[in-house]
Order: sequence, then C-alpha cells, then structure tokens
Amino acid sequence: MDELTLLEHHAVTGSYDLYEISDDDCETLFTHLKKFWIDRDARMTPSAIDALIDRYGAGRDAPYRTVPASMIADMATPVIEEGRTYTILELGCATGPLLQSLEQTNVYDHVQMVGIEPFGPFVKDFEKNFPTHTIFQNDAEGFIAMNPAVFKSAPYATFYASVTLCMLPPRLARACVAKAATLCDGILIYDYLANGMLDFGGAQNLIFPYSAETEQYYFAHNYPQYLSDLGFSKMDVIPVPRPEGIEGYGILRARRDK
Ligand SMILES: C[S@@+](CC[C@H](N)C(=O)[O-])C[C@H]1O[C@@H](n2cnc3c(N)ncnc32)[C@H](O)[C@@H]1O
Repeated sequence: MDELTLLEHHAVTGSYDLYEISDDDCETLFTHLKKFWIDRDARMTPSAIDALIDRYGAGRDAPYRTVPASMIADMATPVIEEGRTYTILELGCATGPLLQSLEQTNVYDHVQMVGIEPFGPFVKDFEKNFPTHTIFQNDAEGFIAMNPAVFKSAPYATFYASVTLCMLPPRLARACVAKAATLCDGILIYDYLANGMLDFGGAQNLIFPYSAETEQYYFAHNYPQYLSDLGFSKMDVIPVPRPEGIEGYGILRARRDK
C-alpha cells in the first residue's frame, strides 16, 4: 500500500473503529505525522500560531488539565512535606499547560519540570512563561537518544505525557515509556482511554481513523502491556473527557513495582 492510498483509505473512514495495520504502514503514518508537526509553523501565519498557543492556555481550568494537576499535587504533598522538590519529566509538554494548572495548586513552588517538545513556537512560549523550569527542543526519537547525564534530577517522581504518545507508532511509544522508566519512578499518561482498557487480542499496530478536525492520525497503545513488561503496575485508569466533551480519553497511572 503506498502512502496516498493508505491516507485516502483512512481519511474517508467516519467511525471510531480501530484498524490493524502493518509495521510498514505504521511507519508511513508516522512519517506523515512527523511532517505535520516539524514544519507546521512554516504552514501557519503568525496569528494562527498565536491562536494555537492561546488555545493551550485557555484549557487551564478544563478537567483534562485540572485532574492530572490535582493527582500530581496529591502525590507531591508528602514529598514536599519532607522538604524535597517534586520533579516531573514531560514528553510533548507544548507550552506548559500542566504547569499552568499546577500554578493553581499550593505545590507549584516546590515542583520542577523538565519538558521535551519538538515544536519551536511552543518551546519559545514555554521558555518565556516558565524560565525557572527546563525545556529541551526534541522529539520522541531525540528523547530516546538523549544522554542520561542530561537528566540531572533523575529519578524524576513522575513521567507525564498528555495526548503525545498516541502520535507515535507502538515501537516508538513503547521505547519512550521504556526510556521514561529508566528516568522516573511513576508514570502518568493522559490519552485515549481505549489505550488503557482495550483488549488488543494480540494485535500489534492499531490506529484510530483519520481525524479531519486535527488533521492527524492517532495510534492506540497497549499501555498495561508496555508497563508490565517494564516492571511497572497499572494503579488506576480514570476517564476524563476532552474540553469539547469528547469521551474516550482518560488518565492512566502506574508506578514501579517494589
Ligand atoms: C495534542 S498536543 C498535546 C500537548 C500537551 N501535552 C497537552 O496535553 O496539551 C501534542 C504534543 O505532542 C507533540 N508531538 C508531536 N509529535 C511528537 C513527536 N514525534 N515527539 C514528541 N512530541 C511530539 C506536539 O508538538 C504537541 O506538543
């Protein structure tokens, strides 16, 4: 199947069924997604970029921001009471919406984040608003290749990824979670709830149909499997819809087995 045929095929699919695709087709879709993000700003006017950045800030009080922020605040409180800083490593941190939500809690002054983000305008905005935190401009493949010595505060208390791993093919999402597991003691993922709940029935590569609204494809991931392979146990999966009321998303929390 060549790239165009595959894209057209999924672009006309209107349901939320999942499709099983080959390893090669996974890579084709991922190439499409990477191109979408890498030169996205070159295809946008400055005001469209500003509007995109504003949309991230506007979601501050939405449950998909406040629920993970309050879970982090709960986990951070006993650490802070012991006089320590609570550390977070986030992949695909965008403009820092998690930090914006944490600013509304009483733990913010004792939290330190290291973010990884490939999209230049998001990185610049993060640096402007959160100069006391750290951000590296890098994508998932770059994250995996990063020298562990860069992560000076490891082990981080929590690895966080929100609507980011679904943009990566299974082999890469799994590798990111594996890298995170070497650097962090806990894992918090906000993503398709299906990703945490599905019975994959042995399927390796599952995708959601093309989303015309976001112009993207999303991959489904068997997170419980990835995590148990790494010696992490799933603690809970909490359904939290997107602000538009879109169901099917949730938070999956896991921690390293003792
Ligand atoms: C839907 S946004 C979510 C942003 C933020 N985490 C949130 O919850 O609002 C997806 C994020 O993943 C990033 N991203 C896209 N492709 C990526 C890749 N290959 N590696 C790492 N991050 C990627 C985007 O730049 C963007 O910040």
